[in-house]
Amino acid sequence: MRRPVIAGNWKMYKTVKETLHFIEQFKGLVGNSNHCDIVIAPPFTSLSAAVNATRCTQIGISAQDVFWESEGAYTGAISVSMLVEVGCRYTIIGHSERRQYFGESDEMVNKKTRAALSANLTPIVCVGETLAQRENGQTQKVIQAQCRQGFSGLTAKDFSHTIVAYEPVWAIGTGRTATPDLAQEVHQFIRCLIQEEHGGIVAEELRILYGGSVKPDNIKGLMAEADIDGALVGGASLKPDSFAAIVKF
Ligand code: PGA
Repeated sequence: MRRPVIAGNWKMYKTVKETLHFIEQFKGLVGNSNHCDIVIAPPFTSLSAAVNATRCTQIGISAQDVFWESEGAYTGAISVSMLVEVGCRYTIIGHSERRQYFGESDEMVNKKTRAALSANLTPIVCVGETLAQRENGQTQKVIQAQCRQGFSGLTAKDFSHTIVAYEPVWAIGTGRTATPDLAQEVHQFIRCLIQEEHGGIVAEELRILYGGSVKPDNIKGLMAEADIDGALVGGASLKPDSFAAIVKF
């Protein structure tokens, strides 16, 4: 059985003060829920405060990005050891906004994923097609290329510490969620790809999250699908009550 993961990606929202306020309320709402892994990814500036505020809870803290070099003259970049030092356990990698606005390629996603794994950080690696790619019938081709290059060189052990997030770009922040059927189709496709390249056990154990306009009223349908193991939530993770409702799907 794959343990579900519900992760909130706050993007460029929330100061330290707002982060602490959220966590205080959210902890009360989720109580001792223990049926899934709960992850929150605040901005870098809030990571340390978020880790401290969630000590002795079931909530894990994630970064939204990381750089692959261990140190050096890379203005603005953050290394895996810096994240580990503040108590981060996960990092999102290759979000479509990073790909779109910051020019991230699959090769960069691969370097970041390997760097995260080398430091025992769990990478949450995002893949997904744009609307144009879907309409041109290229969804599978795009996902296949993103997975092949993004996961190049990963071992079976690496995969056991890796989470994949399928996020169709046309569903992110648009209110246009993929239907459970449509999401399931791609999740199954991803699992088959991983099976072909890395074997049945790796594929069977890999957790694949869906992301793109996940809300309290559509999470249940998505979670009912065989290959959907959780959600990566943007907008609806910013309010304690809506994120808690998603956690309690
Ligand atoms: P959304 O964002 O839930 O606001 O669509 C999801 C994401 O970007 O991870």
